[in-house]
Amino acid sequence: MYAGFLVTRRRCRHPDFHVDWRDTGGQAFTLMTPASGNAPGFGLLYRDDSGAVREYDYAPGEAIFFTDDFMHSTKPGSSDEPVVLLCFTFGTDRMTYWDRIRATSGSQSALMCRPDGQFETISRWQSWRRHLGWLAFRAGLRRSA
Ligand SMILES: [Fe+2]
Repeated sequence: MYAGFLVTRRRCRHPDFHVDWRDTGGQAFTLMTPASGNAPGFGLLYRDDSGAVREYDYAPGEAIFFTDDFMHSTKPGSSDEPVVLLCFTFGTDRMTYWDRIRATSGSQSALMCRPDGQFETISRWQSWRRHLGWLAFRAGLRRSA
């Protein structure tokens, strides 16, 4: 496991499609499962292989996990009480993939456990710089994230 955290939200006005993983060779994953009972109806949008937008609705006791190039977004909506999702990122125990894993997930977590079991702190500056690089990549201004 590289990182674990809680995702909380009350409102999402617009989709923000993105991928969590790119170019890891299917060696890294994100798992999300509801930790609060109000998640149904405030789900996940994703693009299927044809590019069509589809919807996944979180259900208690179920989880979704995905790897490279899974284009997804929070489904727009709102909730009076915070919707809480438990999120794990995990994958290979081979360090040869670490640079590619860190390149995308490094902007999501300040502290990650590497495949070799060592913890790596990612400074706010590094995280912000990677995030800017990621935004430039998404905007088509860079060829890699
Ligand atoms: Fe994501």
